[in-house]
Amino acid sequence: MNKISVSIINCDFGNLNREIEMINRSDAHWFHLDIMDGVFVPNISFGFPVIQAIKSKATKPLDVHLMIASPDRYIKDFKAAGADWLNVHYETCPHLHRTIQSIKQKGMKAGVTLNPHTSVSLLEDIISDVDLVLLMSVNPGFGGQAFIENIYDKAARLREMIEKKGSKALIQVDGGVDTGNIAKLAKAGVDVFVVGSFIFRAKDPEETIKKLIDK
Ligand code: DX5
Ligand code: ZN
Repeated sequence: MNKISVSIINCDFGNLNREIEMINRSDAHWFHLDIMDGVFVPNISFGFPVIQAIKSKATKPLDVHLMIASPDRYIKDFKAAGADWLNVHYETCPHLHRTIQSIKQKGMKAGVTLNPHTSVSLLEDIISDVDLVLLMSVNPGFGGQAFIENIYDKAARLREMIEKKGSKALIQVDGGVDTGNIAKLAKAGVDVFVVGSFIFRAKDPEETIKKLIDK
């Protein structure tokens, strides 16, 4: 059974309440909130007021993906806004071990995200401290981008490291996921799938989520 985290970046923000209710009603497992600052990635998305509004209506955990410079400055604010999972980009954290510790101290699950070019081998000494590793299968910053094929091999190498180190970390993939590639990703060892535009472009989003789970 595939775990689905619905990325809302491409939802209809003019009807956010309706979109939240759809995800609540659906079989999806998490809300995936993409926080972009226009510095680390060439796009700006949304901040704390929107996260709080979603938290007040969501009946499922908030999986918050930080695509921001200096995430350490805001850990307590994301906790206060309602984040359940907080993942930071490896590329933005010079003191990643300390960042992961402070996310966990604040009572959230801690994740680290790798850009497409960043090697899994860099996680060797932190893999047992994190609850989740997010592998980007697109370059971060936008929904609806083309899927980067080397992710299958990268996920398999990460799965091998997790087994070897006895880590409990979940593997999550984000970007360009759809019913055409989710089964092959699951086979490579992926646990959680972030899906955005494939769901929001669908005529029947709830049915599409069911198909993604059962693939
Ligand atoms: C991209 C975001 C992803 C993206 C996924 O920077 O991290 O969550 O929105 O959306 P799709 O599924 O549309 O590629
Ligand atoms: Zn994301």
